[in-house]
Amino acid sequence: MCGIFGYCNYLVEKSRGEIMDTLVEGLERLEYRGYDSTGIAIDGDELDSTLIIKQIGKVSALKKEIAKVNPNRDVTFVSHCGIAHTRWATHGEPKQVNCHPQRSDPNNEFVIVHNGIITNFRELKTLLLNKGYKFESETDTECIAKLFKHLYDINYQNGHELDFHELTKLVLLEIEGSYGLLCRSSHYPNEVIATRKGSPLLIGVKSEKKLKVDFVDVEFPDESNLGRPETPLIAANGKAIHSDDNNITVTTNKKNPDAFLNGNGHSSGSHDDNLLPIAANEFNLRYSQSRAFLSEDGSPTPVEFFLSSDASSVIKHTKKVLFLEDDDIAHIYDGELHIHRSRREVGASMTRSIQTLEMELAQIMKGPYKHFMQKEIYEQPESTFNTMRGRIDFENNSINLGGLKAWLPAIRRARRIIMIACGTSYHSCLATRAIFEELSEIPVSVELASDFLDRKSPVFRDDICVFVSQSGETADTMLALNYTLERGALTVGIVNTVGSSISRATHCGVHINAGPEIGVASTKAYTSQYIALVMFALSLSDDRVSKLERREAIIQGLKLIPSQVKQVLKLEPKIKELCATKLADQKSLLILGRGYQFASALEGALKIKEISYMHSEGVLAGELKHGVLALVDENLPLIAFGTRDSLFPKVLSSIEQVTARKGHPIVICNENDEVWMEKAVNSNLETLEVPQTVDCLQGLLNIVPLQLMSYWLAVNKGIDVDFPRNLAKSVTVE
Ligand code: G6P
Repeated sequence: MCGIFGYCNYLVEKSRGEIMDTLVEGLERLEYRGYDSTGIAIDGDELDSTLIIKQIGKVSALKKEIAKVNPNRDVTFVSHCGIAHTRWATHGEPKQVNCHPQRSDPNNEFVIVHNGIITNFRELKTLLLNKGYKFESETDTECIAKLFKHLYDINYQNGHELDFHELTKLVLLEIEGSYGLLCRSSHYPNEVIATRKGSPLLIGVKSEKKLKVDFVDVEFPDESNLGRPETPLIAANGKAIHSDDNNITVTTNKKNPDAFLNGNGHSSGSHDDNLLPIAANEFNLRYSQSRAFLSEDGSPTPVEFFLSSDASSVIKHTKKVLFLEDDDIAHIYDGELHIHRSRREVGASMTRSIQTLEMELAQIMKGPYKHFMQKEIYEQPESTFNTMRGRIDFENNSINLGGLKAWLPAIRRARRIIMIACGTSYHSCLATRAIFEELSEIPVSVELASDFLDRKSPVFRDDICVFVSQSGETADTMLALNYTLERGALTVGIVNTVGSSISRATHCGVHINAGPEIGVASTKAYTSQYIALVMFALSLSDDRVSKLERREAIIQGLKLIPSQVKQVLKLEPKIKELCATKLADQKSLLILGRGYQFASALEGALKIKEISYMHSEGVLAGELKHGVLALVDENLPLIAFGTRDSLFPKVLSSIEQVTARKGHPIVICNENDEVWMEKAVNSNLETLEVPQTVDCLQGLLNIVPLQLMSYWLAVNKGIDVDFPRNLAKSVTVE
């Protein structure tokens, strides 16, 4: 999905060349999220002018475009704010005018980079067109830039010189939808605004001097200064602003939704005028200073800020970061970072902490591997270990999940558990559902987030809703989380990305600690989610004597998983050869699994589809005879999970149904399994042997050959494995 990067230097002299390189490199670190075009905005040569350079394609194409435009790299800036973007098209195809930054006008007075979708952009566009604005792109973002200019101009004309964040508050009142955005403006040189709603945004802080405090105060409007109209007044977008003793609340004027700007969509100025007195009063803030950025003697401190949708692009520069919350308006100027909010909410936090990231730069570098996906597959012995580290006591067979401990009694009392996720994360829920039910004795349902929302599924206060997400930002999962929170359910997050929206919005949870996952096709996050969920299930049953033996077997099984994964990785040469021979140039591939291995079949098929573009389908072996068998002949490639568990006889019979129809499956089986050794000789079937583990953990080992298979199928086809077409790592739109 789209990526945002911004860089502000204050009293740290940088050449334009260095600034552009920092922005471009920031974008390179966001490439993995998936995108189709890029752009940057920096100071131009004229005083307070903005230079925008953008291009479709990869960051490498942007570099060429920068070289073509050839701005003077040697000019130096003591203070400067630059913004940059990778775009994943939602409104308007990838073409140069649609790339971000988007601008308010040909003079680039306000320029914006934006992630997310503005849902009321059509209405805004119509109204701005009626005001005489000319649009050059098909994007929703352009409306925001023009809205900034329009509201700036009308206030300026009426004698109100708004602060940049005051202006932003007015703009945000008008826009609906989701956004993470940065704005810079020639009217506010060396300042930048960063704000978010439903789209991640963080700010890295780098300064030679230690910060005075490791938090930033949140600044609210000074309510004693508020102008309080006695009756509701129509604000710019047809929203009526009411005041009562303590709060300002905003409600939509249903009768006049188009009242935006002028009440009826036609230029008259009357409602503009209506808006101004309220706006000017409402946003009349007291002056404040940001405590974190004060030096001992009160003199300005040199500082650099790195704004990004993702920690991976900031980590090279600093580990000190502040995660913005929804509706925060960060305003950076004069080397200070201020966080504003439009309203004071009861119980809301008064500060945002500046945290220290634990991530290392090496974790987001490819190292000796050709692709991030390959690196991440090979990291699994380590990442699976890290998920368990400090949480499982293998001596005493006990589990300690710090983020869940206090909530376990409440969870045990639940009548049902609903697991909700998308994509690979959904498969990790399917893979662990049975052991969850077995150990907790609570019914578990597994839901695709989008479908769960589409159905408006009933949720009750005594439900436990578990949200599984690698990124912690997936829009469908986040929306489902909000839906369950509104209904009073207890929510649990199983998330990889620390500080992500889902990890912050849930009541409790487990970080899977797999380390940053860059490849679009999720691999190490799957195995770590799987382990985190198993540990969760084990924690739920640690008060049950009847489960003691089973629990011990699973815990001892988990202990061996990292080394067993290492062993499975040794299958790579054989898998590579199969991909180059038997599986090369195939159009379709079926993957059969049953019981615990049905999830492995679905996840394997998803991996193959995602990056090799080959049709692949995970089939429940028990369903074979109800339709899929019709496809089987001597030509159809088929993979079957034939590892040992209580369903083995049934799986065997399904595979025999295939071989009886001249199918030649590749069977993933346990090492030295006599049944398969014999069949390999007699019925022309290939085997891929993996170590045996406890039934509910076998999927952790069985998925690895399919991860490798999807990787090699894609590489053999010359596909850019880390950037499969049309897909994004973090899907932040519905
Ligand atoms: C995208 C990614 C998948 C991922 C899914 C859910 O589709 O390409 O790899 O499984 O989103 O993402 P999440 O971050 O919520 O696990």
